[in-house]
Amino acid sequence: MTNTDYQSDTIKDVTPDPLGARRIVVLVSGNGSNLQALIDAQSHDRLGGGEIVAVISNVADAYGLKRAHEAGIEAVALPHREYDSREAYDGALIKVIERHEPDLIVLAGFMRILTPRFVQRFLGRMLNIHPSLLPEYQGLNTHARALAAGVTSHGCSVHFVTEELDGGPVVLQAELQVSSDDTVETLQEKVRSREHLLYPIAVQWFLEGRLQFSAEGAKMDGHLLPEHGMRLSHADAAEELDEELDEELDDEQQD
Ligand code: GRF
Repeated sequence: MTNTDYQSDTIKDVTPDPLGARRIVVLVSGNGSNLQALIDAQSHDRLGGGEIVAVISNVADAYGLKRAHEAGIEAVALPHREYDSREAYDGALIKVIERHEPDLIVLAGFMRILTPRFVQRFLGRMLNIHPSLLPEYQGLNTHARALAAGVTSHGCSVHFVTEELDGGPVVLQAELQVSSDDTVETLQEKVRSREHLLYPIAVQWFLEGRLQFSAEGAKMDGHLLPEHGMRLSHADAAEELDEELDEELDDEQQD
């Protein structure tokens, strides 16, 4: 809620939000282009009233930390190499995260397998983005594996994080059509632009209270979502991104 809302004529009907902006902590290991998409959405007031209060990385020289710093966000390096075990590292990470009292934890290219203790601590308020149409291609090298399998459709997914690697309930996906001349690089570029479109939307929905984690799966406005979550079609995503539609490919794939 903004100050303007609070001062409006409907003041009697509005309960001031005692928490203020929703607090987001983002975890990165590398480039942080998804982090940048979230920072940009926040600066255009399109992040559900959320504020990124800290960016934490297990890699001290991750470019994502630089992006955070440039945006005036607290950037914390917590190198995993300084800890003897995964449990010890995740314990330290929990402490750093909790100091920031987040409503939501966003994994944006955080290349670590998480311990059950870590996942349980933030269950239901931790999202991840993955470069495939889950449940297809969990794990690494998704574009190469998709190309090797000769798929015609690929994409990305935002999902809640559970103990199963890339296996939590899917919230939102964007699809893209794979053409015969696509390479790992071209697919990566197309998938990445869809990721930048999707992640701020999913974060916004979560912070607005529309998106929830439940034992049965992800829910949107109280309704259980299908296994693949909500899906943005190739055409809709291409339109949003001002990409040219490959009409021939469309025709081919409809045959
Ligand atoms: C993205 O492809 C995301 O799907 C995966 O890691 C990559 C992170 O890229 N989880 P960036 O650091 O946000 O540019």
